[in-house]
Amino acid sequence: MYQGDALAVLRELPAATVDAVITDPPYNSGGRTMSDRTKASARGKYVSGDACHDLADFTGDNRDQRSYIAWLSLVLAECLRVSRPGAHCLVFTDWRQLPATSDALQVGGWTWQGTVVWHKPVARPRRGGFKANAEFILWGTNGPYDGKRDLYLPGVFSASQPSGRQRRHITQKPVDGLMRELVKVCAPGGTILDPFAGSGSTGEAALHEGYDFVGIELSEHYQRVARQRLDEVAASSAVDH
Ligand SMILES: C[S@@+](CC[C@H](N)C(=O)[O-])C[C@H]1O[C@@H](n2cnc3c(N)ncnc32)[C@H](O)[C@@H]1O
Repeated sequence: MYQGDALAVLRELPAATVDAVITDPPYNSGGRTMSDRTKASARGKYVSGDACHDLADFTGDNRDQRSYIAWLSLVLAECLRVSRPGAHCLVFTDWRQLPATSDALQVGGWTWQGTVVWHKPVARPRRGGFKANAEFILWGTNGPYDGKRDLYLPGVFSASQPSGRQRRHITQKPVDGLMRELVKVCAPGGTILDPFAGSGSTGEAALHEGYDFVGIELSEHYQRVARQRLDEVAASSAVDH
């Protein structure tokens, strides 16, 4: 785990050394108007008023759409440089930022291969309209990928955000049923990079599935949480063997 700004740390990493980039950047979403987007904190945007937890906020979530595309393109271009030919890239987003994120993926040089759906079983109904109970994972590759591999992954995953003591981050992704399935796109035994590691869900899934992991996180607090989670997985697998 590195603690620092993704772009700055990525620029220090050697070229062509990772086999997959799986990441959940700050969506910079969550508002109908520019002032909604730029004034609210990440907590204010993504945590509902009745949530029974008091998790730390994070920064980097107030860009408008043009600057989000520009910034994420720079990050994803560095991720491409760090990845090996044929590597996979998975980037989380929501419905509002889907077009911006697919633009950034392609501006970054990745070949867009598809969009995977994360269905969230628990979501509020929306009066007079459709429930927003899905987030999206854009799938890209560094040039052509190994199409001969005997691997068939679903395009839709259904899993709930962790709750209670398992909940460590305001926008935490579920390890079971989602992250442990997504990491399987990486070639067996490869190295997975997450430049927006948060509380370390990608890393935990990667270690459980037998991959190496490189994580970057700006927040000192969340970097510590991620490191602790990864240490716990490493310790439990040392006991298992
Ligand atoms: C959506 S959250 C990731 C949550 C993670 N998937 C999990 O399950 O815990 C995005 C993370 O990116 C971090 N972040 C924001 N700006 C960053 C930057 N410039 N460089 C690195 N990390 C950054 C935030 O602190 C936040 O923890």
